[in-house]
Amino acid sequence: MAEILGRIGLSFDDVLLVPRRSSIRSRKEVDTRSKFTRRIWLNIPIVSAAMDTVTESRMAITMAREGGIGVIHRFMPPQKQAEEVSKVKRAENIVIEKPATIRPEATVKDAKDLMSFLGISGLLVVDDHGKLLGIITRRDVLFEDNRRLVKDCMTPRSDMIVAREGVSLEEAREIFRSHKIEKLPIVDDEGRLKGLITSVDLVKREAYPNASRDSKGRLLVAAAVGVKERELERAQLLVEAGVDALVVDVAHGHSEMCMEMVKRLRIIYGDDEEIVAGNVATREGVEDLASAGASAVKVGIGPGSVCTTRVVAGVGVPQLTAIIECAEAAEQMDVPIIADGGIRESGDVVKALAAGASTVMIGRLLAGTDESPGTIVMKNGRRYKIYRGMASMYAMLGREFMMRDDAEALLDASEYSYYAEGVEAYVPYVGSASDVVRRLVAGLRSGMSYLGARNLDELRRNAIFIRISPASVRESYPHDVEVI
Ligand code: XMP
Repeated sequence: MAEILGRIGLSFDDVLLVPRRSSIRSRKEVDTRSKFTRRIWLNIPIVSAAMDTVTESRMAITMAREGGIGVIHRFMPPQKQAEEVSKVKRAENIVIEKPATIRPEATVKDAKDLMSFLGISGLLVVDDHGKLLGIITRRDVLFEDNRRLVKDCMTPRSDMIVAREGVSLEEAREIFRSHKIEKLPIVDDEGRLKGLITSVDLVKREAYPNASRDSKGRLLVAAAVGVKERELERAQLLVEAGVDALVVDVAHGHSEMCMEMVKRLRIIYGDDEEIVAGNVATREGVEDLASAGASAVKVGIGPGSVCTTRVVAGVGVPQLTAIIECAEAAEQMDVPIIADGGIRESGDVVKALAAGASTVMIGRLLAGTDESPGTIVMKNGRRYKIYRGMASMYAMLGREFMMRDDAEALLDASEYSYYAEGVEAYVPYVGSASDVVRRLVAGLRSGMSYLGARNLDELRRNAIFIRISPASVRESYPHDVEVI
């Protein structure tokens, strides 16, 4: 017999947080650090969605620089996705482990070509055993005869400043300052090249003090995988590219296929990799995925702005209730949860985190930014970008087309329109993703200070939700005025 639950499912607009006594003097005092997975901490609890109109390397770089993380979507060939991950990992490599090198017998033309191909300003000159012999920069070759040899134009090792393995970033900074150099090669006791630190990378690091970084100073990035057998190969390429977390990303995460995938990844990678899985909307969903080995669970069935699952399938749990229930199980299982979908304002971020999520995943709010894939389109004189659900008809068609590599898929268009659980949409172009994220974090800090919460644990502990009426919703927005 079907059962009707006694409780009413609630969404963000159904509630407000009750203000609490606060000793916080400034919003800057609050700490927004949170766990993305069991082992990965973020400085801000914001994650960009694994959607083809939201997160590729450009978005992921911005998200990590701001202190959050991006999940590179999986709707592209595995090699391409791995390359997107590498781009993020290379974006701010403090110690470049395999710097570009050239042999002393190469010509100036070779050096110029290699520098412009790699888009860099200098090459380290090494012998066949990897021993550092010198450095040649763009400046050295600018007016040189192309036929001359690198060894005759380079700055020799004897005139170079180098550092030993294990040099700290502070020591490197001091060397850059006192010697006014731009590149600091790292060598071992035998003089073999072991890495390179550039002043540009150090400056970038200082420009983003809040950034999410791994132990080598590289930006953090996650990437999505599906649940089919062939996705294990994708996962392996992503791991080789240095991904920090694999996200098993399916519409119905509380499915045996999803649990099976998590288990298989756990067997293959043991504790070496962080594995996120979802989406679920129930306590049991969290328990089953955590038991299968997930290091974080994604929560949200149907709350997303371009989702039609609830309409098409009649299935879903209002997002605030889903978060609260899942958070209880998550606490017992010691896994963080990611509240995925339905965030429209910073107030929703505060509510989702107060309800027990450790981070929030965002699609629509980031889709209209410079960093999302796709170009700006004009409509009625206004600028927009395209945002689409990953289960929308065209997204599914495009995916099938990409995988099959032939035109046959196009014939099945009508079938996809039956199964679509998402829509394609225009979203207003809003400029930089950093601004969007900073506005959300400012709102979060404000919410935390109203609740007297110095960190996100305190936010959860101090959270009392009050259910509100439709009249109160109206009262919450600007009303009875003409907004300018
Ligand atoms: P927002 O509200 O930020 O939500 O746009 C982003 C999340 O929506 C989910 N998503 C979908 N859900 N059909 C669905 O039912 C879809 O086609 C679809 N595409 C994305 C996803 O969880 C994403 O992070």
